[in-house]
Amino acid sequence: MPSLSQPQQPQITLSRRERLETYVRRFTINWPTRNHDIIGSKNPEANAKEVFFLTGTTGTLGSQILAELIMRPYTMRIYAFNRPHPKTSSRQRHESIFLDKGSSIKLLQDPKVVYVEGDLSVPGFGVAKELYEEMNKSVTTIIHNAWPVKFTKPLTDFEVNLRGVRNLIDFSLQSPHLSPPRILFMSSIGMVKAWANIPLIPNTPFMDVDLVGESGYGESKWVAERILAIASEETELKPLIIRVGQISGGVNGSWNVNEWFPALVNSVGFVPLQKCANAVIDLRNASSLSFAHIVHPNPITWTTLMNFVSHSLNLKIVSIEEWLTKLRFWGSKTRNTKHPAFKLISFYEHNLYPKDEDIQRLTEKYQITGLAMFDTEMTSRSIPFDLEQLDKNEVEKWIGYWSKQPSWVNVGEKGELILGSGHRDTVLARL
Ligand SMILES: NC(=O)c1ccc[n+]([C@@H]2O[C@H](COP(=O)([O-])OP(=O)(O)OC[C@H]3O[C@@H](n4cnc5c(N)ncnc54)[C@H](OP(=O)(O)O)[C@@H]3O)[C@@H](O)[C@H]2O)c1
Repeated sequence: MPSLSQPQQPQITLSRRERLETYVRRFTINWPTRNHDIIGSKNPEANAKEVFFLTGTTGTLGSQILAELIMRPYTMRIYAFNRPHPKTSSRQRHESIFLDKGSSIKLLQDPKVVYVEGDLSVPGFGVAKELYEEMNKSVTTIIHNAWPVKFTKPLTDFEVNLRGVRNLIDFSLQSPHLSPPRILFMSSIGMVKAWANIPLIPNTPFMDVDLVGESGYGESKWVAERILAIASEETELKPLIIRVGQISGGVNGSWNVNEWFPALVNSVGFVPLQKCANAVIDLRNASSLSFAHIVHPNPITWTTLMNFVSHSLNLKIVSIEEWLTKLRFWGSKTRNTKHPAFKLISFYEHNLYPKDEDIQRLTEKYQITGLAMFDTEMTSRSIPFDLEQLDKNEVEKWIGYWSKQPSWVNVGEKGELILGSGHRDTVLARL
């Protein structure tokens, strides 16, 4: 019996659509008004050269964009914005990712770079007021790249990141520049539900929640896109939402071993890291665009890729079903249920294996993970249509890089390989 002092609350169950839209509504009210007294006020720096506010520069794509921006002659300053870490300094983390990706660490000493640590989820970003004001006066482009690339977390875990998107919009709208600095937001093609039966995803917003994959990650990118799209309708902000495809190795073949291996297939085509970073930078000037897709214009089939991998590692190719059965068996036999590959079983089941027979036939020919095709017409200037196809040499570069990593472990019997590391819930796995 419920006690009288604790009246029972009526249980309200929200549909998925309502749940997602609640987040959108929460972050799209009370836009700051533009201060017309200061708008257009003289800012000599902004007239001459560009000043970037770039988030997540300790990660794969952010570090490559940072390296490229440092080398561009028009860059006056880059505020490299990251969250603080208790044990390692921002400088150490940058050095380690630059070394890993084959970028010169000398670039990090360039006076153009200002390292900022803070928290985007709070107004003022948790930095000194003077620094916030200095950034607000000078920044001409915002590249929002930081995001938890976590596929098993629920949407609620991304709330702080959505708050960060809203605070960045406010930061842009508070700018004294004539036009608020553009926000380039790194979204993901992985947001679209696997096996969504749509021929071509256009370079536009899509409202249909049913097209959004079930993961909190995909949902969070959709909500963030909606917040930015509404801001562009209701304010002077002109954001650019860039749906990034799967990024492959850096110039030295480096491809984070912690990444979820099937994400490797989860694309229309992989885009090499450096090409992707350059495309993001070049797209900032595409003023007529509000959405862009960065995917490879000449994808190869999954079968061709797996043949390269199988040849390099001397592994037998098995069906996805057999692979999943082995993964389940291996997990229960070794009781290593904390292994990232094991933790991701249901994710693999949803994303790797289509239930529909027609789609199964299609995937033999095209994409194993059932991602829709993405319209790239507008992005073609940034990703040239003659971009080389992925070849065996490239795959061997990744494998050479992975096999040097401490987390590369062969725990199976003959021909069964699991590669991964326990400290993140992403994995590179092959059984
Ligand atoms: N890699 C791909 O193939 C791919 C595909 C589609 C879209 N994207 C998008 O591209 C962007 C970069 O991806 P990536 O592959 O470079 O990821 P990554 O290597 O994991 O780097 C992510 C960056 O975001 C920061 N970050 C993560 N969680 C954060 C949080 N809660 N608060 C503040 N900062 C946080 C990380 O900082 P710490 O160093 O502090 O963790 C890091 O700097 C993301 O927005 C991702 O969704 C990537």
